[in-house]
Amino acid sequence: MKIGIVGSGNMGAALGTIWSKKGHQVMFSYSKDAEKLNRLAALNSNNAQGTVEEAVAFSDVIMLSIPYSSLPEVLSNKTIFQNKTIITCISGLQPDFSGETIGLGTKLSISVAEHICHLLQITKVVEAFNTTFAEILQLPSREIEGKKPSLFFCGDDAAAKEIAATLIEDADYTPINCGGLLAARTLETLATSWVQFAVVAGLFPRIAIHSLKY
Ligand SMILES: NC(=O)c1ccc[n+]([C@@H]2O[C@H](COP(=O)([O-])OP(=O)(O)OC[C@H]3O[C@@H](n4cnc5c(N)ncnc54)[C@H](OP(=O)(O)O)[C@@H]3O)[C@@H](O)[C@H]2O)c1
Repeated sequence: MKIGIVGSGNMGAALGTIWSKKGHQVMFSYSKDAEKLNRLAALNSNNAQGTVEEAVAFSDVIMLSIPYSSLPEVLSNKTIFQNKTIITCISGLQPDFSGETIGLGTKLSISVAEHICHLLQITKVVEAFNTTFAEILQLPSREIEGKKPSLFFCGDDAAAKEIAATLIEDADYTPINCGGLLAARTLETLATSWVQFAVVAGLFPRIAIHSLKY
């Protein structure tokens, strides 16, 4: 796949690195650090770096891994995102982890993922990678005690979800389909609880979710 990373920080750089190792073509964008973008692009001869517009034009699927506060700037040119699949891991969590800036219990009581759909007027938006930590993505392998972590995802478009499930598996997680994009409201809240729990328990970021079946 051709993947555009929009937000080449902890999450975006780690995911793009994993996917390029799996043979995907990755274009990294949106960092204030041009040297970092060059370094990431140099990881693989199929990789590249560019502006947000170039990364979106290059890709079939876009990993949106930016701070929530950057959404208006990054999505300002709505037309470039039409017909693209967007995966978002953006959380509305306040920087001090104390609560949400968007979502349940706030004035804008929808999820960040739904907000992106509304802003762009598109349906191919998938919520994923919110219930994990960048530090896990930066490990040489996701396997912990012989098991893959589980990763919850949701969205309204079946084809976009299929793409997301493939990329979740390529990142060495087991995808768990949580249904339509409405579920992003609770997934984003779960992501907040998960960080708060990990911090309070003194386990952040060395803990991952694993779903047991019987
Ligand atoms: N970290 C986690 O474990 C985790 C887990 C789940 C969800 N999330 C969510 O994922 C998103 C990304 O998190 P992160 O930890 O990867 O954050 P991060 O490391 O700060 O990455 C954000 C990226 O956006 C870039 N950026 C921000 N403002 C910019 C501007 N004005 N111009 C150009 N580039 C700009 C940053 O540039 P620089 O490279 O110059 O800093 C960075 O590359 C957030 O919404 C977060 O809540 C994070």
